[in-house]
Amino acid sequence: MYRHEVLVVGAGLAGQRAALAAAQAGRDVAILTKLHPLRSHSGAAQGGINAAVGAEDSVDTHIYDTVKGSDYLGDQDAIEFFCTEAPKVVVEMEHFGTIFSRSADGELARRPFGGAGFPRTIYAADRTGLALLQAIYEHLGSANVTVYEEWDVVELVVREARVQGVVAYHRATGEVAGFAARSVVFATGPAGRMYGRTTNAHSCTGDGVAVAYRAGAWLKDMEFVQFHPTALLESGILITEGARGEGGILKNASGERFMARYAPHVQDLASRDVVSRAIVTEIAEGRGFPGGYVHLELMHLGRERVETRLQEICDFCRNFAGIDPVTQPIPVLPAQHYMMGGIGTNAQGATNLAGLFAAGEAACVSIHGANRLGGNSLLETLVFGKQAGIAAAAHAASAGAAEVPAEAVARVETGIRDRMARKDGPLPLAFRTEIQNVMDTWVGIYRNPGDLGRAAEALGRLRARIGTLRIPDGSRAFNLGVSDAMETEHLLDLAEVVVAGALARKESRGAHARIDFPKRDDVHWMQHTIASYRPEGPQLSYAPVAYTRWEPKERVY
Ligand code: FUM
Repeated sequence: MYRHEVLVVGAGLAGQRAALAAAQAGRDVAILTKLHPLRSHSGAAQGGINAAVGAEDSVDTHIYDTVKGSDYLGDQDAIEFFCTEAPKVVVEMEHFGTIFSRSADGELARRPFGGAGFPRTIYAADRTGLALLQAIYEHLGSANVTVYEEWDVVELVVREARVQGVVAYHRATGEVAGFAARSVVFATGPAGRMYGRTTNAHSCTGDGVAVAYRAGAWLKDMEFVQFHPTALLESGILITEGARGEGGILKNASGERFMARYAPHVQDLASRDVVSRAIVTEIAEGRGFPGGYVHLELMHLGRERVETRLQEICDFCRNFAGIDPVTQPIPVLPAQHYMMGGIGTNAQGATNLAGLFAAGEAACVSIHGANRLGGNSLLETLVFGKQAGIAAAAHAASAGAAEVPAEAVARVETGIRDRMARKDGPLPLAFRTEIQNVMDTWVGIYRNPGDLGRAAEALGRLRARIGTLRIPDGSRAFNLGVSDAMETEHLLDLAEVVVAGALARKESRGAHARIDFPKRDDVHWMQHTIASYRPEGPQLSYAPVAYTRWEPKERVY
């Protein structure tokens, strides 16, 4: 048994920031992660981090843009706190050593991003997440935080009405062990791999969200799934919104700058839900290129600008699509990018389970509501990672000793052995592909009750079979079949919650676009969806949205 006062699961920006805050509060802190911290998906965030630091900008405008972007489903008290913290967070990360790009006058360079009233997105070329991750990781090294790498979280231990640790599986050796902790912070990132076409890394399987859900944590607003408008056609690799922030434009097969019809004021820099719907509408109405895609053009920006501001995009286009974005248009299509929903928390990261905290994409505070603005995700990891770490440290200081019962560890071990002993049954990755096919086909940008019903039925059939997953290899060291099986279970649980919430929500709001209910319905649906685990499927209830100053209005870009 391993034992710490605070255990942070996940080593991306939110997890590392939480661990740092808890360690600075004097607690004995460990991080448990399935990847090396520098390989966390935070490193894939390209375009930047939002903060109102410019003379022409204001925190109030950032708040307003975020509330509007959320389609009025974001909690306004949390959004006010979030945007107020933003300038401090960016300065802190700069002092930590982040090499942000500079403008000619030496100030932090800022680029426009979708749905933002001013250029507010501070960046490090198009590798902003990686630059932040490297800076914070250096600080973690001096903060006396133990890092357990190559560990999958499998179960959350809840005893005597409080969280007391986790059971985890060590990929490197096959060991199953208990990690007792007075406070646990889940910062396990996205669950985008429930879709086949996604910008998310293969590791983004919603581990902490599903494990918390099964242990009784409430999930919030899971039906709101963000599709990024511009992902490379075949691979789904992200082409940052920074490309349009730098002046890139979208064109259909007739060479028309079609966004003028959907967002007359800001065109290509409307919010992501609006641009994604516009692209699929163009294609559905026959104005896309054969095979179904549109073009993102950067050619007019000139070689110097494209190759310095969008270095990684140049590499991706050249290496993965065989095109040069300096001289050729980029074929793009939306891809799943972000889950607005997650483990429900308050602004301090606390959940409905005593001793469990969550932050980053695994959590839903909610500041993004029905649609997240680009550049608010990196900010979220740092603002709420820190808050969760502070709150977890305070809880650990007063909570009693924690214990992980031997039976919990034995149960996980038995489950692994059973799967290894099985002679028939589906293989985890093939089964995962079936989940992805369901989500890609029926739970996309536009939703209708027929497709959602088909998705629910298909997931139900997968549910009936998931108990028969088989791990074909009985070895213990780096037997990734074990992890694949666990991750696939997580994805199925969470896909069911997405579909149940989407079927129930009879309106269109932000990223949830129902063709049978095309309007937002503030009278009946201005509320958060809460999903609780039940063996027979998710149980839904609803909770109010917090308001401060911003009256709901029609959202026009
Ligand atoms: O487009 C991007 O660079 C993504 C940024 C984000 O999701 O915040």
